[in-house]
Amino acid sequence: MIDYLVDKRQFHLHNGKISYVMELTTDGFLLQVHNGAPIKQFTRRDVYPKYIRSSFNPSPASRPKGDFTLAVIPQEFGTYDVGDYRVSGIEMTYPDGTQATTLKYYAHEIIPGKPKLAGLPATYANEEEAETLIITMMDAPRMLKVQLIYTIFADLPVITRSTVIENFGSESFMINKAYSAGYDFDDADFDYLQLPGSWAAEKQLERLPLRKGVHKLDSRRGASGSFMHPFTALLRKETNEFSGEVWGFHFVYSGNFAIELEEDSFNQTRVNIGISSDHFNWELAPYETFQTPEVVEVYSPDGLNGMSQVYHQLYQHHLVRGRHQLAERPVLINNWETTYFDFDEESLLALADDAKKVGVELFVLDDGWFGNRNDDTTSLGDWFVNEKKLPKGLPDLADKIRAKGLEFGIWVEPEMISRRSELYKEHPDWHIHVDRYPESLGRNQLVLDMSRQDVRDYLYNVLDELFTSTGVTYVKWDFNRNMTEWGSPLLTAKAQGEVAHRYYLGLYELLERLTSAHPEILFENCSGGGGRFDPGMTYYMPQSWASDNTDAVERMKIQYANSLFFPISTICAQVSEVPNHQTARVTPFATRMNVASSANMGIMQRLGEKTSEEMAAIAEGISWYKKNRKLIQYGTFTRLLSPFENNYCIWGFMDGDQSNGLLFFGRILQHADEPFLRIKLPMLDPHKFYQIGNYHGSGEEFMKYGLYVNTEIHGDFTSMFFEIKEIPAVTEEPTLDYFG
Ligand code: DGJ
Repeated sequence: MIDYLVDKRQFHLHNGKISYVMELTTDGFLLQVHNGAPIKQFTRRDVYPKYIRSSFNPSPASRPKGDFTLAVIPQEFGTYDVGDYRVSGIEMTYPDGTQATTLKYYAHEIIPGKPKLAGLPATYANEEEAETLIITMMDAPRMLKVQLIYTIFADLPVITRSTVIENFGSESFMINKAYSAGYDFDDADFDYLQLPGSWAAEKQLERLPLRKGVHKLDSRRGASGSFMHPFTALLRKETNEFSGEVWGFHFVYSGNFAIELEEDSFNQTRVNIGISSDHFNWELAPYETFQTPEVVEVYSPDGLNGMSQVYHQLYQHHLVRGRHQLAERPVLINNWETTYFDFDEESLLALADDAKKVGVELFVLDDGWFGNRNDDTTSLGDWFVNEKKLPKGLPDLADKIRAKGLEFGIWVEPEMISRRSELYKEHPDWHIHVDRYPESLGRNQLVLDMSRQDVRDYLYNVLDELFTSTGVTYVKWDFNRNMTEWGSPLLTAKAQGEVAHRYYLGLYELLERLTSAHPEILFENCSGGGGRFDPGMTYYMPQSWASDNTDAVERMKIQYANSLFFPISTICAQVSEVPNHQTARVTPFATRMNVASSANMGIMQRLGEKTSEEMAAIAEGISWYKKNRKLIQYGTFTRLLSPFENNYCIWGFMDGDQSNGLLFFGRILQHADEPFLRIKLPMLDPHKFYQIGNYHGSGEEFMKYGLYVNTEIHGDFTSMFFEIKEIPAVTEEPTLDYFG
């Protein structure tokens, strides 16, 4: 999969699905040549037409003839202050205060498999599944080594990248910017995707043309956040969901990030991805190394669905881990929107009784069960039971719920502390803060300093005890504010710029300890909804709460956008009450059920107030979901019509042998005398025959002619599932025509 052609000084990573070609100049610069469509043999070299262009572009010292400039040539990793004026991959400040950095080839090695990233989440693979190239670059005068690490997966058009920076000198230097990867293209004929958003409106997909200059997608909030997701894709102008080239770039990290997209004056493109250099300065002592998180590149010649299906396979089999990785996920009930903070043992047990009746499998007790927590002003950090609400304790409640035939799960928000808490009284300095400086509150809370070992040990012990004593098989791990006043009293003044990244190294360490100690627990990642639903958290927690917005209409968009990269089993959705608590919209029960059933489904319902007909409808919905959940959670997912661009939303699920599937159709508003909508179904097998709803025909017909989808139901916010079933071949006698 990885070749190094000595005579051509050329690296070629290839697997028949992607080719990635780099070449070395005689003076050691590493140039990017080709990234994308598979090419069996790349025989040419020096294909880039001209290594010098235009005045005002200096040449490096090794090219005194001035025949080469870093300013325009596509490279692997741009450096700073040596004539490449585009955005750089790394920036350092050396002991003398200067910054010029040149990286030249020193050595390389090719190893089977994929090495782990030090203390960071990443995709994983064994020796048959992947191969890794490590290119060591060096700036000898600066005593700086940079390893560029590339892994190519055997069966997928995927290349991951990460970088290790090493100081082999005798003095410390400061890393001001340490990105994970840079991708240069010698043209700019691209649109790009971005996913801005906010709380309850995560991942609002946008497609924009690339423009000259630098465009930056980032988060400086101390979390990947709801406001911009650490993903972008470059698309050819003609690319759509089904065809055309696309390059996806996803960052496996949960903290501050930046994606820089630059189009230069010569219509060339650079995409740089890494930890944001805001709130980041890292002092690297002699012989220390710094490893950056991973970027996952997926190349697809088959449009956005092609890209997504690769991400789904990769993440399902090489990112999600543990016992629940491929297990059907339980249907849960969560009491949050039913009770908020106002519950007691009796009301919870009554809800559990009703939940059991409708077929729920897991009861989740959300916020408010601990300390004196009756609203959001107190008690975060006090992970012991609120005896006023639950006088007999949590283990007792858990046993009673289990006795009803339900599993028991619990909500925690471990990274936070309330000022009004026992923990704060004992440890008023355990949170992130700047000494003697006024501190901002978010949802009345402060953020514990996860860079501290004592904080992490406290959390490990208290949570381990909580999980063990209650026997929970599910934990919802929440995170409800973003960071301000970055400071950690245990770090030196110089190291304060390290807090933001050390926070995540600490959090990841804690998550590794807890998830290893409790493999039985299904962890669900949450941050006021999808405020930290990123691949970094997905490595530790196999599923995520996609949004606090449970309105079925808005959810179509949020789930549609999440499906760009996340497998359906990782995306959680719930059937909530109407009027919806976030939008006040009233949507039909069937649509709420259908939208939630298009993901990892649960319910948030006031079951005690339901009529017997309503209970029967909920039970029927849950039973239908259970019959279909393997297909939904682990089948092949295809987006067919985007709610970001249409009055409809359509997607489909197909099993592995293309025999059975489901087609979701959702309408936003009903129009009078609505035009018919015929949709082609590319996910079928052209050689098979299918029954789809009331229609039957060959796969080829449904693929090329399609299916009318908007004629069977009417009304605003309506939706339905068409069941797709393989049937025996339909052989029809040809009818004689009039002249036959
Ligand atoms: C935010 C979450 O997204 C909600 O589902 C709920 O758990 C609340 N936090 C509880 O405070």
